[in-house]
Amino acid sequence: METSRNNRKLVNAEITGVGMYVPEKVLDNHYFETIVDTNDEWIVSRTGIKERRKEENGATSDMSAKAVMDLLKSKNMDPEEIDAIIVATVTPDMFFPATACLVQEKIGAKNAWGFDLSAACSGFLFALETGASLIQSGRHKKVVVVGADKMSSILDYTDRNTCIIFGDGAAAVLLEPTEDLDSGYIDSKLHCDGKGAEFLYMKGGGSLHPCSHESLDDGYHQLVQDGKTVFKEAVKGMADISVEIMERNNLKSEDVAYLVPHQANKRIIDATANRMGIPLEKAMLNIDRYGNTTAATIPLCLTEYYRAGKLKKGDNLILSAFGAGFTWGAIYIKWSLD
Ligand code: UT7
Repeated sequence: METSRNNRKLVNAEITGVGMYVPEKVLDNHYFETIVDTNDEWIVSRTGIKERRKEENGATSDMSAKAVMDLLKSKNMDPEEIDAIIVATVTPDMFFPATACLVQEKIGAKNAWGFDLSAACSGFLFALETGASLIQSGRHKKVVVVGADKMSSILDYTDRNTCIIFGDGAAAVLLEPTEDLDSGYIDSKLHCDGKGAEFLYMKGGGSLHPCSHESLDDGYHQLVQDGKTVFKEAVKGMADISVEIMERNNLKSEDVAYLVPHQANKRIIDATANRMGIPLEKAMLNIDRYGNTTAATIPLCLTEYYRAGKLKKGDNLILSAFGAGFTWGAIYIKWSLD
């Protein structure tokens, strides 16, 4: 058995459980034809989205708590076993307290600490890296990583460029230690570049532009995106980083069971799969049903594909994302659940 310098056993992190929640209310493309100048054909052909969900009864902490409860139920696990909760989100219930604290209370995770992490569409990957490090440190045995966003709370429903793209949802994974260092979390490469800040943002409510009558009038409390620029950067960012992580782990296209891409635009996903040399069927998809749920897209994919019996132990998965910041990255995991 390998040991670290302070005599702790070296352990890796692996995903040992998944759970999800999506709201019942469905907004299809035809609904948007009634509120902005758009049509189903444009939305499907330019984005791949057919419908998305809208949370009408709760906030991000409620959606997150439901996703974690779904995970705990599937594992028959007591919430008091959780050591830490990380919530990746850009739509927290409020600035503070952290959404993670509200989730902790809602699910009765009496022994957990937790915090929120803001990295927009890359949020789940950044949170997974953080959660895996807590496990690898040897000081945590059960870490829950949540990706959750209530995008409907920050959308401008008069802007056809953005309101048709995003949706609400939450999903969670459980990380636990394994002594098999070749299983679970194998490699990652994450980036941020603040030069991208001007292309995708929500200006208002922070210390730069505190809430005021003017900030409300100027639409500072809603998401703004220069779609064309973000699209161009996302295609390059996601494809480059996915290929890089394959190459440095000597993975050929046939070794990859699935690309698990952030779901921003079907055309970005196709371009990434093409650059990796993998067939489109090997790219997980839920964008048609949920749109872009920001931090939730990747764990929603993992939960649905696992529950549909499409994943097997040992499968090589490349998780990949690009989003506001800019933030981007890829993570290579060997799937651990049968
Ligand atoms: O997840 C975080 C990262 N975000 C992304 O990765 C999103 C990246 N961007 C995109 O996915 C795409 O850029 C969009 C889906 C946002 C837009 O698609 P596009 O093909 O890049 O369209 P565009 O912005 O170049 O606009 C083309 C035309 C414009 O009309 P004009 O100026 O040529 O007359 C837009 O006004 O399409 C128009 N347009 C629409 N038309 C019908 C924009 N939105 C719509 C709409 N319905 N909903």
